[in-house]
Amino acid sequence: MNKPVTPPNSLEAYWMPFTANRQFKAEPRIFTGADGMYYRTADGRQVLDGIAGLWCCAAGHNRPKIVEAIRQQAGELDYSPAFQMGHYKAFELANRLVSLMPGSLDHVFFTNSGSESVETALKMAIAYHRVRGEGQRVRLIGREKGYHGVNFGGMSVGGMVANRKMFGTLVTGVDHLRHTHGVEGNRFARGEPEHGADLADDLQRLCDLHDPSTIAAVIVEPVAGSAGVIIPPKGYLKRLREICDRHGILLIFDEVITGFGRLGTPFAVDYFGVEPDLVTTAKALTNGVIPMGAVFAQSKIYEAFMQGPPNAIEFMHGYTYSANPMACAAALGALDTYEEEGLLTRASEIGGYWADAVHSLRDCKSVIDVRNLGLIGAVELEGIPGEPTKRAFSAFLKAYDQGLLIRTTGDTIAMSPPLIIEKSHIDFMVDTLRSILNSLD
Ligand SMILES: Cc1ncc(COP(=O)(O)O)c(C=O)c1O
Repeated sequence: MNKPVTPPNSLEAYWMPFTANRQFKAEPRIFTGADGMYYRTADGRQVLDGIAGLWCCAAGHNRPKIVEAIRQQAGELDYSPAFQMGHYKAFELANRLVSLMPGSLDHVFFTNSGSESVETALKMAIAYHRVRGEGQRVRLIGREKGYHGVNFGGMSVGGMVANRKMFGTLVTGVDHLRHTHGVEGNRFARGEPEHGADLADDLQRLCDLHDPSTIAAVIVEPVAGSAGVIIPPKGYLKRLREICDRHGILLIFDEVITGFGRLGTPFAVDYFGVEPDLVTTAKALTNGVIPMGAVFAQSKIYEAFMQGPPNAIEFMHGYTYSANPMACAAALGALDTYEEEGLLTRASEIGGYWADAVHSLRDCKSVIDVRNLGLIGAVELEGIPGEPTKRAFSAFLKAYDQGLLIRTTGDTIAMSPPLIIEKSHIDFMVDTLRSILNSLD
């Protein structure tokens, strides 16, 4: 039976992700184009991209090298099977990536998203212990307020209550470190806050509770983005590394938002001088243009799998679109752009100006904290009693009307602009926000 044809611009059929569908569809916000630092809206306005799409468009929009790479690739090799077959750009990209990553993180497994990178890393960690004869190490440790995507593994190690509560009992054998948000004395800290490194010792508590010999891995975001930008206290990540080393536990950094220059270094691994065993990435890997993720593994992990008969598949895992040729071409174009324009370190150059600008908002109405690191900024607002999230979301709507795209989570405004941002754009962002914040109820 044929259904009546729905008009192409009807908004009803599309079930939108992480969106208040009914509210959106009553008053839609539609983009029709993007170039450089700006989006163009359906009603012909320019909106400054204050969040690099969703933390992914590090080089801004419509970048020629990336556009051309995709165009060429589509006509040359559009798809190549991911399993038991290869194509040169997959190897070239893996080589380029490991040369950017410090230490012995020198193997790369390709996925299609941050969520898939997380699932891949968690599976790698558990399987790694098993192939080494420590199959009893099956527990995974995440952190309260952590965000590691939306698949079952990532949701389970994640610690955002709203993302977890609807979906049953999740993966078993998971525990969580305490979060590091709101530590006494850290309000309005510039950069890394002074207090709270001892919160890493919570890992020792979990080791005492479960016995470390049952724990496979700990996963944390070096800087937590989705829970409202939580910067790690000075020394916290080093301490986590030390405790993991003491007990033979793998440390996974989820660098889906910090990877590719966000902190002013290619990766947070460089910024904090802490080398984890596995690193998950996605987003800016292709400048957000084509879905792709990558998991970096230390060579000891890769080598542990390379045993048994050579015709045996060593890791029973992969995706139809792992190392998709179009995604590889986009990623190579993105890396070319980042390197030619110095974007992987640009946040360290403009970061001081950015920090001053973001912290100038501290005296605005309802502001209870301001946080920054690299080209990340957050302004936390006091929630309206009984109506959490409403005040920040009003700021989001007003900002959009006034030509600025920000993101809100809870009552925190998060900003993570493209790394090509200039001082004049930063001025526009904070001036716009200042007048909006002071006009809010
Ligand atoms: C730290 C982190 N991990 C994982 C993800 C999930 O990535 P994706 O939405 O590409 O699945 C995100 C997305 O924001 C993230 O910030």
